[in-house]
Amino acid sequence: MPLQEILEKYPKTGDHLIEVLLEYQNTKMNHYLTEEELKQIAKYLNVTESRVSSVVSFYTFFSLEPKGQHVIQICHDVPCYVNDQPSLVKTIKNLLSIDVGQTTEDKLFTLEYTSCLGACDKAPAMRIGEKTFTDLTPNKVKAIISEYRGKRHA
Ligand code: FES
Repeated sequence: MPLQEILEKYPKTGDHLIEVLLEYQNTKMNHYLTEEELKQIAKYLNVTESRVSSVVSFYTFFSLEPKGQHVIQICHDVPCYVNDQPSLVKTIKNLLSIDVGQTTEDKLFTLEYTSCLGACDKAPAMRIGEKTFTDLTPNKVKAIISEYRGKRHA
């Protein structure tokens, strides 16, 4: 969805700055915001560019760098960690040949740590896009990633 279309759904104030930034970033295949887009958002919402930049740099879920089409967020909090999360991280790193914080060469996947996904009773957990996966094992992770490989955008 074009940025202007999203902006027009909101009042011209800074009250919904985070929602606007998130909604727009989520529409972009590579999940990131450009400096030019931040300027456009600041102008529409009548807030300073520095306010927009500081919000984007404060929250880790915003990015100024292109990410993979599918962002794998693996929970790094204690309940997941002690439930074999390190094996999952190792499996994903080996499968994708990337480290945490990196994007695959084909720009299909980015691997990140995240804090609790609210699924501690079914740890370990990870999220890809809007979907949370729980009770994970290395084999389940392999199957999930293989499924997402097939979801490549044209
Ligand atoms: S600690 Fe991982 S989902 Fe809560």
